[in-house]
Amino acid sequence: MTPAPVPIEAWPDRLEAAVAGCATLGRVVVLRETGSTQDHARGLPAGTVVIAWRQTHGRGRLGRAWADTGTDGLAISMNLPAWLTDRLAGCAAVAACEAVEQATLDAGRGTPPVRIKWPNDLWLEGRKLGGILIEQDAVRATVGIGINVLQRAFPESIERTATSLAMHGFAVDRLDLACHVVQRIDAWVSADQERMVQEYASRDALAGTRCSLATPDGVVEGLVLSCDPRIGMRIRTSSGDRTLAAASTSVLASLDRASA
Ligand code: BTN
Repeated sequence: MTPAPVPIEAWPDRLEAAVAGCATLGRVVVLRETGSTQDHARGLPAGTVVIAWRQTHGRGRLGRAWADTGTDGLAISMNLPAWLTDRLAGCAAVAACEAVEQATLDAGRGTPPVRIKWPNDLWLEGRKLGGILIEQDAVRATVGIGINVLQRAFPESIERTATSLAMHGFAVDRLDLACHVVQRIDAWVSADQERMVQEYASRDALAGTRCSLATPDGVVEGLVLSCDPRIGMRIRTSSGDRTLAAASTSVLASLDRASA
């Protein structure tokens, strides 16, 4: 049986306890409902965590929308110092994977095989479990993480591509997951970044597969050689090897039948 969710009244204390040991995060803002935690975090100091019980108009990468997940999804944004920006795509992806694993272990159900679909989507058995949006200004970088936790169904537009932890039999509490997210991201931004890249590579869903990618120069197809969240994706095309920047490239489709 799925345990009752921890009520919102308990969120501030639990999250404040979670950030108490963090070097880069300190203040927590818990919102009952907001359009986008990312928008709410804008202008707040570095070190602030913004989390919503319900987010109604979440934003994704490349101007996309992030579906309203009612009270079933995790929606959290963390303001970190702007000088950390270069490492955040990789750190956030690895941290989110580890947080999912830790929260599922806490729930006593083992761990799901969460992978990173470059640059920083969370991927579970070929479907999107979560996404990460990083925005910055001169002072702060805001890392927004959305993870599908308790959903049993999705809007028609994403029902073939999205998944949740509940759909894989993992009854995770959103607050527990959020506490692990803040702690793992804090740990990774201060860690050896070569180790982060190795960890990222060990979870990479695309290396060794053939993909079609949307780039500013048009669609590019090829074999993914490697993915480095700090640099970009190395891809072998019919006209040679190329590096595609993370910020401006998105995966259109896998060209392998049985791959990511
Ligand atoms: C993507 O997959 O393109 C990124 C999705 C990021 C969604 C999260 S949910 C919390 C934060 N607030 C937002 O409006 N977006 C991010």
